[in-house]
Amino acid sequence: MSTTFTVNGREVTVDADPDTPLLWVLRDELGLTGTKFGCGIAACGACTVMLDGMSRRSCVTPLSTLDGARVETIEGVTGPEAEVVQAAWVDINVPQCGYCQSGQVMAATSLLQMIPKPTDEEIDNAMAGNICRCATYVRIRQAIRQASDNLEA
Ligand code: FES
Ligand code: FES
Repeated sequence: MSTTFTVNGREVTVDADPDTPLLWVLRDELGLTGTKFGCGIAACGACTVMLDGMSRRSCVTPLSTLDGARVETIEGVTGPEAEVVQAAWVDINVPQCGYCQSGQVMAATSLLQMIPKPTDEEIDNAMAGNICRCATYVRIRQAIRQASDNLEA
């Protein structure tokens, strides 16, 4: 069965088992390896992408649900929130090993799209599902605050 949707603005048609998680469609079928596998059970956030403008765990999102959907990944996410988040990430040098960071950036971008001026509590709540084994949490919070400050600048 084939499924047609857009990824980073490009229409793709994927012919694979409908139960295949979006994560593996992105990585194995489309060669977009910026989205990472961490747990496979929606518990770590490494696989976070945007689906129709909302952050989503791609490891538990089956291909069968994607017909006509709009997917954005770390390779192509755009817009003012994505720009300020990525600039702050670079400026503050957030990553350590880097493995979790595409998911962190996607989650932070989604947060600022919903809440442009989040409180510290809102930042912590929004990012709680994105695990960083290198414990870059302090820099992640700092980068989100900076990105928020720069959003209207
Ligand atoms: S790999 Fe999807 S949440 Fe961990
Ligand atoms: S930077 Fe290494 S897991 Fe987050």
